[in-house]
Amino acid sequence: MRDFAQRALDIQPTGVRKMFDMAGDDVISFGLGEPDFQPPEVAIEAFAQAMRDGHNKYTTTAGLPALRKKIAESWDALEPGMDERNVCMTMSGTNALLNVFSSLVDPGKNVLLPEPYFPLYGPDVGLVGGESRYYPCLFEHEFVPQIADLEALVDENTVAILYNFPSNPTGATINIEQRDALLAFAQKHDLWIISDEVYDRIVFDGEHVSFVGTDSARVVLINSFSKTFAMTGWRIGYIMSANLEAMKQFTKIQYYITACSNDAMQHAVLTAFDEASDYPSIMAEEFKARCDLIVDRLNEMPGVQCHKPKGAFYVFPKVEVPGMNSEEIALELLKGGVLCSPGSAFGASGEGHLRFAYTISRKDIERGMEKTAATLKALRGD
Ligand SMILES: Cc1ncc(COP(=O)(O)O)c(C=O)c1O
Repeated sequence: MRDFAQRALDIQPTGVRKMFDMAGDDVISFGLGEPDFQPPEVAIEAFAQAMRDGHNKYTTTAGLPALRKKIAESWDALEPGMDERNVCMTMSGTNALLNVFSSLVDPGKNVLLPEPYFPLYGPDVGLVGGESRYYPCLFEHEFVPQIADLEALVDENTVAILYNFPSNPTGATINIEQRDALLAFAQKHDLWIISDEVYDRIVFDGEHVSFVGTDSARVVLINSFSKTFAMTGWRIGYIMSANLEAMKQFTKIQYYITACSNDAMQHAVLTAFDEASDYPSIMAEEFKARCDLIVDRLNEMPGVQCHKPKGAFYVFPKVEVPGMNSEEIALELLKGGVLCSPGSAFGASGEGHLRFAYTISRKDIERGMEKTAATLKALRGD
């Protein structure tokens, strides 16, 4: 029998799933990175209606012009003048990422990626033959990258830097000054900026700070409706750039990945834009209340320090139990009835942390925090 391709052999299963596979049904799960909401009812209706109306065919590769135009216009305040040519629909943010890395990274070139990270970035860069270089996003800097760390990694083979704000797994966001410093770094080294902003509509206390509108020539936006409209299972997202030359490449590559996105679903998302535009803010309000709750509870526990994030639906506290690493702590918490992810699943800089996704009710958060406190107390002997 023939052997497998090296790129398949090289890629490792994600550490995030490991805890899930061990969890029983009765655990309180802070594991899942998806909203516990359903998509807006009008979108579900529109999806069904679109199928009945015969929208069950291929669309153009880039997707329905009306939806692409609507998406482009939704960014008008930051980058005026874009239209359907600036958007390519994909089957999720995951699909968008692979497309963009395929389009921008040659074998032998490298990409700067955040660490702790969304676990797909590095393997994706590896699949297209590129090298991943991880820049640290540390607790002491509120998980915001430091320019000196970026400067230490960049060289003549660096083609792109990926930024992810609000961040998975840390929930970190940036202010305008920080954004501008990160932008200036990329400009200085003539890098593509791949900005993964899939949590752009889940922000608390203020406006989302985007890279859109900062440098039309080099900014590529990755976005998705998974979090915006709680459609994780639908698999729909998009790539957007003011750079039309780049959009031509992404659209060409998209043809060879999925030919196009899902016809009926695109009609449903168009309806969600028109009729459920406040849905993300309703979710964000609930996530903010949960965030306040979980951060307060965590900070009451000895050995735990937690920043209060301003976006997404994760907290990434520092958790200290002498003699134990994050995976061992997470395993003990699991035995005590709480599922969370060890920080090390998001790269070496995540060691010493745990990730809690607050995608469960406030009541379950309370119960989960009680159990977390009890387990940590027993482990630490406080
Ligand atoms: C930072 C980040 N980017 C991209 C994605 C991909 O989202 P999807 O493929 O569901 O659109 C996720 C999903 O959790 C994420 O957290």
